[in-house]
Amino acid sequence: MTPGDRIRGRIKRREAVVCVVGLGYVGLPLAVTFADAGFRVCGVDTDAARVEAVNAGRSHVPDVPSEAVARLALGAGRLSASTGFDAVAEADAVLICVPTPLGKTKDPDVSYIVAAASEIAPRLREDALVVLESTTYPGSTEELVLPRLLEGSAGKLEVGRDFFLAFSPERVDPGRADWTIANTPKVIGGVTAACTEVASCLYGAAIAEVAPVSSSRAAEMVKLLENTFRAANIALANEMAIMCAHLGLDVWEVIDAASTKPFGFMPFYPGPGLGGHCIPVDPHYLVWKMRTLGYTARFIQLADEINSAMPQHVVLEVTRALGSESKPLNGASVLVLGVAYKPDVADTRESPALDLIHLLRQQGARVSYHDPLAPSIREAGLDMASVGTEGEPALGEALPAADCVVIVTDHSSYDWAYIVERSRLVVDTRNAIARAGVEGARVFKL
Ligand SMILES: NC(=O)c1ccc[n+]([C@@H]2O[C@H](COP(=O)([O-])OP(=O)(O)OC[C@H]3O[C@@H](n4cnc5c(N)ncnc54)[C@H](O)[C@@H]3O)[C@@H](O)[C@H]2O)c1
Repeated sequence: MTPGDRIRGRIKRREAVVCVVGLGYVGLPLAVTFADAGFRVCGVDTDAARVEAVNAGRSHVPDVPSEAVARLALGAGRLSASTGFDAVAEADAVLICVPTPLGKTKDPDVSYIVAAASEIAPRLREDALVVLESTTYPGSTEELVLPRLLEGSAGKLEVGRDFFLAFSPERVDPGRADWTIANTPKVIGGVTAACTEVASCLYGAAIAEVAPVSSSRAAEMVKLLENTFRAANIALANEMAIMCAHLGLDVWEVIDAASTKPFGFMPFYPGPGLGGHCIPVDPHYLVWKMRTLGYTARFIQLADEINSAMPQHVVLEVTRALGSESKPLNGASVLVLGVAYKPDVADTRESPALDLIHLLRQQGARVSYHDPLAPSIREAGLDMASVGTEGEPALGEALPAADCVVIVTDHSSYDWAYIVERSRLVVDTRNAIARAGVEGARVFKL
C-alpha cells in the first residue's frame, strides 16, 4: 500500500466523511456540494445560530437554497452541523473555510486559521486529509497549519505519509448561478506530491475539473493573482474614468469601443469603489507577505489608493451635479440607490456605499438610502433603514423628494426608466441608465 491508498479508496467508495470547518458564504455551499456528491458531511461552526439553522434545514447563505439544506440534512441525513470539533475525529477530510479579515492596520488576521488548526490537530485521525480554503498569503498552509498538525507527535507523524495537507482556493462568486463550486475548476496544491494526489481525488469526486499545481504555496499565490488582477484592473478603469472626466470624455463609450478589439483587451468598468469580503482585502495579504521579505508590492498599493479614493470622486460628481442647479451639497438631500457591494446580493461588507454615505454626511448632506436586498445597515458606524421599509417613505415618494439620487449598486430589479422619470437629478456611477437605453437630461455619469 502506498500512502493515501486507504483514503483514496474510501473517497471512491463514498465512504469518506467530510468535515467542513466554517459554514459561511464559502463553507456552506462546499458542504452542500460534497453532500450532493454522496458524501456524509459534518459542518463545524463556532456560531451556534448557523449550526442550528443547518440542522433545522435552513440556509443562511443566499446562493444555497434552504430546500437543498433541508433535503440533505433532514431528508438524506448526509449533512449535519455542530459547534464542537468532535466530528473531526471521524472525518477523512477536513476543509477549513474560516474568515481571513484584515486588522486595523491592514495586516492579515490569521487568528481564525490558527484557532481552527489548533482544534483540528489533537483530533485528526490517521490518513486524514486537511485542506485550507481560506484566502491567505503564500506559505500559510506550511507555516500556520502544518506545525500545529505535527505538534505533540514528537516527530512520529510525517505529512504526505501519515496525513495529507493541501491548499485549495475557493473561487465562489456570490450571486452567480452559471459558475458554481461543482463546475468551476478547482486549483489544488499539496504540501507534498502525495498530498496533491489525495486532495485532487477528493475534489475530483465532487467537482468537474481539478487543476493541480506543484505546491500549497503556488495554490495560495494563484488566488492572490486572481484577486489582485481584478483589483488592479478595476483601479485602471477607475483612473480612466477620472482622466476621461478631466478630458470631457465618456469613459463608458471609450471602454465599449476598446472592447470591439477581438484580442488583447478585456473590459473592466469603473465604479464607486471596491467592495465585498475579497477583492479589497485579499491583495493586502500579499502586500504584507512581501513586506516581510523587504519588497514593496507597488501595483497593489497604487490600485488600493485609486480604488479607495473613488467614493471621494463620487462626492465630487454629486457636488458638480448639484452645482449645475446652483445647489450646494451642504444641506442637500441625497438618496443612495443600492448599498450592497455588488448587484443582486444583500452583502454590504466593505461596500463603497458605506464610505460614500459617511463622506456625504461630512459635507453636510442629508443622506437616505434604498436597497431592495439590504433593509438596514448596522455596520461601519451606520445605523440606517432603507427607504421603503417600515417607518420610511416608499421609493416612489423618496425619489422626487431627493435633491440628488446616486446610483451605487445596479440591482437588476431596479426600473431605471421609473427612477429617471421621478428623480430631479441622478448621478449614475454604474452607467446603468444608459445601458438600459433610458435617456434623461438630468443624469450625470461617472
Ligand atoms: N465570500 C466569498 O465570496 C469568498 C470567495 C472566495 C474566498 N473566500 C474566502 O473564504 C474564507 C471564508 O469566507 P466566508 O465569506 O465564507 O466567511 P464567513 O464569515 O461567511 O464564514 C466564516 C464562518 O467561519 C466561522 N468560524 C470562525 N471561526 C471559526 C472557528 N475557529 N471554527 C469554526 N468556525 C469558525 C464563522 O462563524 C462563520 O460562520 C475567507 O478566507 C475568504 O477570504 C470568500
